[in-house]
Amino acid sequence: MADPVVELVSVRRTFDAGEVLRGVTFTLARGETLVVMGGSGSGKTVLLRLIAGLIRPDAGQIRVFGRSIEGLSEEELLPVRRRMGYVFQGAALFDSLSVYENVAYPLREHATLGEGEIAERVARNLGLVGLGPEVLRLLPAELSGGMKKRVGIARALSIGPELLLFDEPTAGLDPTNAKLVAELVQKLHGGVCDTAIVVTHDIELAKTVADRVAVLIDGRFAAVGPMTEVLETGNAAVQAFLTGEAR
Ligand SMILES: Nc1ncnc2c1ncn2[C@@H]1O[C@H](COP(=O)(O)OP(=O)(O)O)[C@@H](O)[C@H]1O
Ligand SMILES: [Mg+2]
Repeated sequence: MADPVVELVSVRRTFDAGEVLRGVTFTLARGETLVVMGGSGSGKTVLLRLIAGLIRPDAGQIRVFGRSIEGLSEEELLPVRRRMGYVFQGAALFDSLSVYENVAYPLREHATLGEGEIAERVARNLGLVGLGPEVLRLLPAELSGGMKKRVGIARALSIGPELLLFDEPTAGLDPTNAKLVAELVQKLHGGVCDTAIVVTHDIELAKTVADRVAVLIDGRFAAVGPMTEVLETGNAAVQAFLTGEAR
């Protein structure tokens, strides 16, 4: 079997307020979408930040693209980060930059491309999320919530990632836009980037995109498996979470 794209072994992370992750272990295979669900404050964003090397674990191993990253310097992390796209919670666009400059940002940071090629890639990535040239000069404040999310996704796609990390991509959207974003995440999975971790509260999104679902409770994955299995798990805490979310 091919090496996993992401592998965590007994990962722990504590903040001042206490231990958030208490031993998270999983592997993500190439071609797979793992959805991580869990209540607010359960450590979902912390998990993505650890995988992106933005913060470090207190204990445990994190391997990404076959490389242990927990001991790497910022400089050593760059080639690893270059292979992943991160769709931040909210959309986290740069407010003072146009849509064009937002999507071009990682290209300017990570690659040595001429302006012509940057313009081409920006247009292509916006096209992948269903946005045309009319949005290029707009500022984030001029976009709807759904459009901001799509620009955030286009930015994460800009370097041609092998792994996409999505932090609550449908949060704060109305049902119509949430459905559009869910379909977009699914489309990317079948096309430009087939491997992803999607963090969400949104059961409909999970049902649409997940190959496997993991539920993060008390700092550990309390259930991991296909959605149909997780929905039927006997774990009371997982059931309480899922029925609470589904209301
Ligand atoms: N940089 C930080 N400093 C202190 N505490 C943090 C930091 N990042 C996260 N935490 C704490 O870790 C817990 C989990 O946060 P987070 O991963 O953002 O939750 P969520 O599952 O809602 O994404 C929260 O209690 C939060 O306060
Ligand atoms: Mg979060």
